[in-house]
Amino acid sequence: MITIEELKEKIGSVIDPSRNHTLHDLNAIKHAGIDGDEKGVVLLIEVGKKNTDTTQVITRAIAKIVKLDLGFKSLVIDYEQARPKALTKTVKLIGVVSGKGGVGKSTVTANLAYALTSMGKKVGVIDADIYGANMPKIFECEVHELNGTPDQKLYPVEIDGIQMVSTEFLVEPDRALMWRGPMLGKVLKIFFEDTIWSQELDYLLIDLPPGTGDVMMDVKNMVPDAKMLVVTTPHPNASHIAIKAGFAAKSLNQDILGVLENMSYYEIDGVKHYIFGQGGGEIVADKLTVPFLGQIPIGQPSSGKHSIFAETERIGIIYLALAKRIMEEYLRAE
Ligand SMILES: Nc1ncnc2c1ncn2[C@@H]1O[C@H](COP(=O)(O)OP(=O)(O)OP(=O)(O)O)[C@@H](O)[C@H]1O
Ligand SMILES: [Mg+2]
Repeated sequence: MITIEELKEKIGSVIDPSRNHTLHDLNAIKHAGIDGDEKGVVLLIEVGKKNTDTTQVITRAIAKIVKLDLGFKSLVIDYEQARPKALTKTVKLIGVVSGKGGVGKSTVTANLAYALTSMGKKVGVIDADIYGANMPKIFECEVHELNGTPDQKLYPVEIDGIQMVSTEFLVEPDRALMWRGPMLGKVLKIFFEDTIWSQELDYLLIDLPPGTGDVMMDVKNMVPDAKMLVVTTPHPNASHIAIKAGFAAKSLNQDILGVLENMSYYEIDGVKHYIFGQGGGEIVADKLTVPFLGQIPIGQPSSGKHSIFAETERIGIIYLALAKRIMEEYLRAE
């Protein structure tokens, strides 16, 4: 009769399509058992994305091995979401991408964090813009070394109930980062594995740098089930690059929640002025065949922090509606 080790070896050759590696290489077989009467197999498998597209493919491949090749009568597989150590299995991960710089990713990320918080959610933010980190400025918090533990774990800062980490906290103030590729991966590892996030987090928002480079790939490798939010302005210069960023995410097999158009218009006395043109957001959504989630006008908060809109302001109310829509789209995409 086959041993558990032999069973694991055979199943180990199956590929997790959400991570494109074998279960063996991913160390994804968390439990394998054979019934006392040796008729059935029970498995616990960790997957990059716990969706039916992924689990059906794996179940079919394993069933072929277990039932056809090895002759077992029954097979029960439980699937578990793979997660970096510091995160719970249930926190919802949203990456904010744009392609073009300066379209408002960081501003949108921070305002969505505030909107979700005012809707009763516990939110964390990762400033993964390694070279142009500016989340501490947007949150208007002091830049200082993060508190840590003797075993090198870091506590995020907490501002208005939102947990946040940024590369700004990892270097001396005002010194530019000159890190190369391998270092970038380490920074994300710190944020995903060595940060003491609240166990209560509902959402973790990841503000990605402009472009479609290494950081996007690292995010894909560490949290393959993170869903992407594409931000663009209405201008064709931004929208055509946002389309590229969206296709890059798609080619990495990342789910896209939808497209947000920022700086859509400037409103004076109830009249909307489309300063940067019109239609960019819808074009991007059409091309990527994902939902268009809405528009954010040009504007400045009237009080409080210089980039954060209060929930009572006109643009703050727009952010609340967008946050609600994003929560719904996330559930739909799961
Ligand atoms: N809706 C808006 N109305 C007015 N100003 C805005 C709006 N959104 C963003 N801004 C301003 O535009 C500038 C760029 O925004 P932000 O830094 O959020 O963009 P980004 O896409 O994160 O940029 P980068 O690519 O450099 O990371 C900031 O000065 C910000 O305050
Ligand atoms: Mg930014």
